[in-house]
Parts: sequence; C-alpha cells; structure tokens
Amino acid sequence: PRHGSPLAANLSICYPSLSDGDRPVYCCPPRPDGAQTVVDFEYPANTDSFPLRIRRPAHLVDDVYIAKYERAVAIMKSLPSDHPHNFFRQANNHCLYCTGSYNQVNSTALFKIHRSWLFFPWHRAFLYFHERILGRLIGDNAFALSYWNWDAPEGMVMPGLYTTGALNHTERDESHLPPQISDLNYECCVPVQEPAEEQVATNLAFMYHQMVSGAKKPELFLGCKLRSGTAGACDGPGTVESAPHNTVHTWVGSERNPEREDMGAFYSAARDPLFFAHHANIDRLWQVWKELMGLQDQPDFDDPDWLETSFTFYDENLQLVRIKVRDCLDPTKLGYTYEETALRWLDARP
Ligand code: C2O
Repeated sequence: PRHGSPLAANLSICYPSLSDGDRPVYCCPPRPDGAQTVVDFEYPANTDSFPLRIRRPAHLVDDVYIAKYERAVAIMKSLPSDHPHNFFRQANNHCLYCTGSYNQVNSTALFKIHRSWLFFPWHRAFLYFHERILGRLIGDNAFALSYWNWDAPEGMVMPGLYTTGALNHTERDESHLPPQISDLNYECCVPVQEPAEEQVATNLAFMYHQMVSGAKKPELFLGCKLRSGTAGACDGPGTVESAPHNTVHTWVGSERNPEREDMGAFYSAARDPLFFAHHANIDRLWQVWKELMGLQDQPDFDDPDWLETSFTFYDENLQLVRIKVRDCLDPTKLGYTYEETALRWLDARP
C-alpha cells in the first residue's frame, strides 16, 4: 500500500540527533542542503576515459594503489570543513542518515536507513559518490575503493593498508589489530578464545548461514519493508546487516570509547577509512547473493515504495544529486565491479 509520496529525506531542516546509545550528536552540514538545487541522478559515462572501476580485495592491492588511495584521503582530510568533499563531512553523511537528522518528507517520522530494505541501496549510493570524489581529487577516473574480504580465510585479518599512513585510524580495538582473525559473529566484549584455525571455520560456516540457508528470500536478506510515515515503520535488518555487518563494526571499534567509536557507533563509523572497505564487502555480498538467487537482472523487490525511495548526495562535481533505489541495483551501470575471489563459505554448509 502507498502512503502518499515516496520516501525521501526532508532536507530543509537538519536536526540535532541521538547516537545509538542515546547521546546527543550533531552531524548537520554548515549550510542546510535544503537550499541547494538537486538534480536527478544519471548513470555515469562508460567510455575509454571513464573505464569500469575495479574494486579489489584490500589484502591484494599493490603499493601504487595504496599510495594513490592515501593521497586521495589526505587531500579529502585537508579540505575546509564546510566543503562537501571534506573527509569529515563525508563521514557525517552517514551520521545524518543513521541517527535521523532529517524527517521524512511530508511526515514527522525520522528518515533512517538502517535495519530495513534501505540498508543495501543507501550504502551503495554513499560508496558510489565517495569513490568518485576520491578519484576526482587525484585526477584518476578509474580509481576504485578496495574491499575488506573478511568472508575469505586470507582476508579475515584487518587489511594492512588501513593500519599505516593516511588510512590508519587510532580509534580501534587494539586487541583486534593484525594478526588477529576477525570474529564475524563477535559478541561484545569478550576476549577471543578460539584458536585461529577454528575461528576461520566458524566464520565460514556463519557466512554460509547468513548468505544461503538463512537468506532464501529477499525479506530475509535485505530486511523489512520500511514505508513512509510512522505507520510504515519497521525494524528488522537482513541477515548480513545484523552480522557480519554490525558485528564487524563492533569488532573494529575501540574498547576505550563509550560506544566503541569510531566504527562501533553509527554516528562516528565513517570517520574510520576502514568503514569504506567494510562496506565495499557488504555491497559485494549483496551482488553475490543476487547472483546465487538468480536475481541479478531484476529488482530484489518489485515494489514502488522501495524503488522510488530516494537519497541525496553531493557528487564529484559538487552537485547535489537525488538517487533512487531503482538506480542502485546494478553495479556495472554505476561504473564499477568487483574482482572475484573464491567463495569458500559456499562449501561450508554445517
Ligand atoms: Cu551504515 Cu555499516 O553502517
């Protein structure tokens, strides 16, 4: 059932908001985005000078790539704080949409994108614009994010490039730095007991559950159907959003901070560059799941309430763009793809 206009954020007023732990946070831009002209999204050009961007596993990238990525992030961090491409402003995009800084249009309900079917498309759009901005800052139209391949045994340790230089971040749990194998179903905050080899096997079996046996329908994988207005509210993340998504956030965040900031709390998570590698893997797994389900050429839900929901982001040209869920369904059309790695968890049926 339709409840009036499609779901979108009302950008004209940006409110102070609350963290997951109900502490006041403020992530609004210095000037309200509601005053800017918004244009509708169009797919990017795909030509020789705008090639498909290839997102590679973070544990396999080379030094040339690392130097580029570090340079791009260093530039992003050096931009003035009121610049939409500034690293902290980029991070605050996530804060805006996870804490509920905006109301929904024509409603007093907050616009939030976690714990529902908006989770995968919103984050895909966020990474899409972030990646293109990074590329623009270093004049590289082929620049691609890399993905933290934590679902593969070789990728389960925090990738090295995020632990030195411009991509390093201090607000992380020190006991989870390399060479510690991540616990994809981490329960905060008990020290890891399992020997590395068993942790790998546990992780693979868990992946099988979250991607296959526990995710046989779109609702199970993508989460509940959030529609506009409070009456349309729902609170039910899909399998992968609950874990490894949430659990790896908690795993990375610092035990010294009240909400395990930065990665452990949504309002601060994207301040850690590792956020983008974590989310690239989440985004990749959405595509992998669609392929396993045979859904790669069709929308996961043929439902206008989902397909017409829109988000706004600044693009690499500093233009505010309205992108709909229906625009976010095909990575190739968005100009990027994932280098494949073996899906070892497919053989890990318990
Ligand atoms: Cu928007 Cu990883 O959370």
